[in-house]
Amino acid sequence: MNKPVIICVDDDKDTLNNIQLELLEALGEEYFIEVAESGEEALELFEELTNNDYEIPLVISDYIMPGMSGSDLLQYIHIIAPKTFKILLTGISDTRALVDALNHANLYRYILKPWDSGELILTVYDAVKSYFKDQLLEEQNTILKEMNATLQERTYELSRTLENLKSTQQELIQTEKMATLGQLVAGVAHEINTPLGAIRSSVENISQFLSCSLEKLPLFFQSLSEQRQQDFFLLLKQAIKQKNLLSSKEKRQFRRSLSSQLTELNISNEASDTLVEIGIYDNIEQFLPLLQDPNCNVILDMAYQLISLQKSTQTINIASNRAAKIVFALKSFARYDQTGKKITANIIEGIETVLTLYYNQIKHGVKLIKNYVDDLPLILCYPDELNQVWTNLVHNSLQAMNNKGTLQIDVFVEDAKILIAITDSGVGIPKSAQEKIFEPFFTTKSAGEGSGLGLDIVKKIIDKHDGEIIVNSVEGKTKFTVIIPIC
Ligand SMILES: Nc1ncnc2c1ncn2[C@@H]1O[C@H](COP(=O)(O)OP(=O)(O)OP(=O)(O)O)[C@@H](O)[C@H]1O
Ligand SMILES: [Mg+2]
Repeated sequence: MNKPVIICVDDDKDTLNNIQLELLEALGEEYFIEVAESGEEALELFEELTNNDYEIPLVISDYIMPGMSGSDLLQYIHIIAPKTFKILLTGISDTRALVDALNHANLYRYILKPWDSGELILTVYDAVKSYFKDQLLEEQNTILKEMNATLQERTYELSRTLENLKSTQQELIQTEKMATLGQLVAGVAHEINTPLGAIRSSVENISQFLSCSLEKLPLFFQSLSEQRQQDFFLLLKQAIKQKNLLSSKEKRQFRRSLSSQLTELNISNEASDTLVEIGIYDNIEQFLPLLQDPNCNVILDMAYQLISLQKSTQTINIASNRAAKIVFALKSFARYDQTGKKITANIIEGIETVLTLYYNQIKHGVKLIKNYVDDLPLILCYPDELNQVWTNLVHNSLQAMNNKGTLQIDVFVEDAKILIAITDSGVGIPKSAQEKIFEPFFTTKSAGEGSGLGLDIVKKIIDKHDGEIIVNSVEGKTKFTVIIPIC
């Protein structure tokens, strides 16, 4: 690398020689000291040196020179090389002219002639030191700016990656939800089919009555005495009041005891079947006159048909409510909340939705115990995603119990937190596996039965709610406790 150059300008040769000698002596090892006898020559020299990649930290110029003045020269240099330091040597004490030069050329100093050699060297020394300090600062500044720009770029990239990750996670949750829904569909379809079957057969029953028996009604009532009509309506009233559904075993028992009662009273025991069917099996004394009537069978048959009609409408009511409940649960489960905002919701409603969908798997061999606190506060949450949590936990429990055992769900409040504990009586989780179960793809199930994503997703959703999940497990008892702050 070339040594940096200090340029000295003066139209007086002797002065110029003096400066050059003094500077060479003090700074000659580190700097070239070049001279010019006029402003014009100095400019030419400046340009030539710059073109040849010399660094020029300082120009020292006489003020008054024929042609271009020192002040003009330094002003030009300031325009082409603003960082170069400039010192003006002057024999005059015209302060106005000096201030002018100081302002326009951005002078570092001016030195009055005749100068003190020590002062000149010190000033020059300070000037070049400041020049290199400024340059260093500028370089560092540039590096800092570049680093800052890179940092900004990285931050931007990172925030985009984070966004992508978030949406991937959201998609993953949605995919898992839809996969669970797929698994549930068969069970749910069956669940809807059962009430539909009940509705169909009830409607058939009603339509049969309407087409066959309705027209017989007027004749039937004409054939009954006033008293018998009253007995008939009392029987109907009593039967409609009867809400207990009897098992076949109970029916058999009631039929037997009723039949022996009727035989004792010398009444044909044929009536006992119909009476039990319509729910009349005790306090039959009030119906004795009716049962002793020669037309007893016809009367009981009509009562049976009318009660069936009433029961059919009841069945339709219950079955359509059940079907509507399942459809509602399916709808709320499959709903995809795209707003991305928390909403106020009731945790228990979410759990009930999930249980409705699993009803088919639960009803055959699982004893379901629910301990829900009264007046559970509503919380701001992502209800759809929480449904995913209950689904995965219930699903795991049912799998661990092979759909046979006890499933207990407790919901309660403690220290401004909602605790949801799901306990099953299944195989349990060995201690060694307990640390791994929340890792993605950790599964002990065969391919197709489990992907190992369930609890990973559960954990992510709970994290999103600033909550936590704890597992306690021994063989025969596994409890997952979800803790969600109320805020
Ligand atoms: N209630 C539980 N009882 C016993 N083991 C459980 C229970 N819940 C989870 N596990 C264990 O934790 C593992 C990981 O559960 P996770 O729900 O993450 O995945 P998976 O059920 O195997 O598959 P996926 O949920 O993706 O269908 C399970 O394979 C099982 O070994
Ligand atoms: Mg699972």
